[in-house]
Amino acid sequence: QQHLLGIEQLHPTEISAILDLADSYAEHNRQGRAHRDVLAGLTQINMFFENSTRTQASFELAGKRLGADVMNMGMQASSIKKGETLIDTALTLNAMRPDLLVVRHPQSGAVDLLAQKVNCAVLNAGDGRHEHPTQALLDALTIRRAKGRLHRLSIAICGDIAHSRVARSNIMLLGKMENRVRLIGPPTLMPSRIADFGVEVFDDMHAGLEDVDVVMMLRLQKERMDGGFIPSEREYFHRYGLDAAKLRNAKPDAIVMHPGPMNRGVEIDGNIADDINRSVIQEQVEMGVAVRMAVMDLLAQNLRRARGPQEVMT
Ligand code: CP
Repeated sequence: QQHLLGIEQLHPTEISAILDLADSYAEHNRQGRAHRDVLAGLTQINMFFENSTRTQASFELAGKRLGADVMNMGMQASSIKKGETLIDTALTLNAMRPDLLVVRHPQSGAVDLLAQKVNCAVLNAGDGRHEHPTQALLDALTIRRAKGRLHRLSIAICGDIAHSRVARSNIMLLGKMENRVRLIGPPTLMPSRIADFGVEVFDDMHAGLEDVDVVMMLRLQKERMDGGFIPSEREYFHRYGLDAAKLRNAKPDAIVMHPGPMNRGVEIDGNIADDINRSVIQEQVEMGVAVRMAVMDLLAQNLRRARGPQEVMT
């Protein structure tokens, strides 16, 4: 692949190859081993048109650990504020000959469009409610490490599914790897064409969590609700927030996940989020660096093969 735009384009063997490489990077990160030769001579530009803590920081760290020259574009201070379009901004940066562009944008499809205009590798760091492929990959790696496998698991994704790119990418990835996916949430926060997803749907947490191996919680994405119905936080927590009583319906060794940012007391009880026997939320963050190292390593290999060794700037 030239770009990483979504899980949709990935074959299960490609997903496994990314996770295998990411797993070894995760171990090397724990040992403090550096790999500064992998992206040496390559330039990585991070363009985040939407706020981020985890994704931006981990892409920056991943690039630096692999030896890339990393530049973070401050999009709030860029000429976008003077009316320059996304495409003109991308063409301008492309003329500076970057090798890797990491892009987050509030509009679904914006990253795919940008990828058609540049001649470097583009990585989707989240576009609107469409896809967040590296989040799904880091979630998959976390599950595989905790459960010892990534197939024939029962996985519940709970909360605001309709507005969530994390849910979409996870549904696709977990389905491709032959897991059983359940979606739990209010009917008003379910996608309209839910039948296309090949999942089971519940609006009751107790029933939906029965015997699942993995519980993945999502926050209410109020910024994408376009003035539609927003439930009261207290009522939402009562019905859909993960607490000890609801979690008792899952398997005794079920793990609890959350992509972050988390709203304690809205979609998840803070005590559950902090329970080191059940929660793998911090491990998800750790795996984020390893997964982003793996995808940039693999894309750089493809880039070098496509360009030939003489054309990569050193
Ligand atoms: N999970 C995630 O995308 O978090 P950030 O918005 O902090 O990057």
